[in-house]
Amino acid sequence: MEKPEPGPERAKFAAAEKALDFVEPGMLLGLGTGSTADIFARLLGERVAEGLEITGVPTSTRTRDLAASLNIPLTTLEEVEKLDLVIDGADEFDRRMNLIKGGGGALLQEKLVATAADKMVVITDRSKQVSHLGAFPLPVEVVKFGWKLTAKRIYEIISCAFVGGVDIIRRMDGDKPYITDEGHYILDLHLKKIDEPEKMAGQLKELVGVVDSGFFIEIADAVIVGREDGTTRLINHRPPLRPVR
Ligand code: A5P
Repeated sequence: MEKPEPGPERAKFAAAEKALDFVEPGMLLGLGTGSTADIFARLLGERVAEGLEITGVPTSTRTRDLAASLNIPLTTLEEVEKLDLVIDGADEFDRRMNLIKGGGGALLQEKLVATAADKMVVITDRSKQVSHLGAFPLPVEVVKFGWKLTAKRIYEIISCAFVGGVDIIRRMDGDKPYITDEGHYILDLHLKKIDEPEKMAGQLKELVGVVDSGFFIEIADAVIVGREDGTTRLINHRPPLRPVR
């Protein structure tokens, strides 16, 4: 894959390329969804063509199709229960490495794969780093049945929380509602600023009709921030995760 010129695409490329340093032969590897994760899949496909032996677990139909086209050996969470590592993008991350994900609609499979993995490395750029989560609308996956009632219940929870505003919009795909890989709707919660993401994540999860939210709380182990000049910064908490190269 050709290296992009310095700029936003180069930042994504740099983060994706750096993530290869965490990949070891024989790994069961979760493959994220999104434009940065797509770059990672393409770079991984090149390594596989050169002889690297790994098996990928895709987090969406989109990623599965891309990885298959790159001849990356694949399996599913039905076949394996535990993964070594997942590499995925994020829509936002804060200083504790809590994330908002799901801008690409794949939050549920992404979270299933991430929580089955020993480690999660997030590939991002500086634009995703925030002091408080919430500038990016929080995706919440809900079942279709009774979705308006679910949206009302979400509104009631959110109205009592410390947020910068409340606007709930069902995600659309052209003139039709967006449907996730699991056949659900997504409600995008425009909250501007979320003061207590852990609390809100728990409250949302308890609501009947909510499948899951795009909060990834205490799941990420490291964040690679790509810069437009092609350099990267590794943010690494908890037991530090070291590249193998
Ligand atoms: C997909 O559902 C998301 O969680 C993505 O990981 C997230 O939107 C980041 O995507 P980009 O790499 O395209 O910004």
